[in-house]
Amino acid sequence: MTPSVLFVCLGNICRSPLAEGIFRRMAAEQGVEVEIDSAGTGDWHLGHAPDHRAQAVADKNGLDISALRARLVTPEDFRRFDHIVAMDASNLANLEAMRPDDASATLARLLDFADGVDLIDVPDPYQGGPEGFDETFRLVEAGAKGLLDAIRERS
Ligand code: 4NP
Repeated sequence: MTPSVLFVCLGNICRSPLAEGIFRRMAAEQGVEVEIDSAGTGDWHLGHAPDHRAQAVADKNGLDISALRARLVTPEDFRRFDHIVAMDASNLANLEAMRPDDASATLARLLDFADGVDLIDVPDPYQGGPEGFDETFRLVEAGAKGLLDAIRERS
C-alpha cells in the first residue's frame, strides 16, 4: 500500500505547508509514491493560504505552495495516515493529547529524521522576520530527506 504522511504544525500556514511542498517534490524526484498532506492543531487560519513569507521562501526555492489551504488535524487523520510528523515538541504533545484509542498512525518529530542538525524542533517562525523562514526551509528540507530515506527503506 502507498505510505502516507501528514505533517503537522500549529497554524498550518508556515512550517507544515513547507514540509508538504518540499516532501512532495522530493518524493516525485526520487520516484517514491507517497500520499502527503498537512494540518494544524490551532484554528486561527483555517482555509487560509500559507503565510506570505512561507510562500516567498518556497518561491525562492522553486516551489509553489500557494494552492495549499490550512485545515485542522482530525481524529480520522490518526487512522488514515501511516505517519503523523510534528514540527516541534508542542505540536507532538498536542497530537498525543488528541490521539484516539484506535489510532494506527505513528507519531514522530520531523527533525528526528534529520542528519547533521543540532536542533530537535523546527522553531516557530511566525513572530520573527523573513530570515527565519530560510532557516525553516533548511531544517524542513533536512528532515524531509531523512524521512523519505526511512520510508524508502521500509517499503
Ligand atoms: P506554523 O506557524 O505553526 O508554522 O504554521 C504559526 C502560524 C500561526 C500562528 C502560530 C504559528 N498563530 O499563532 O496564529
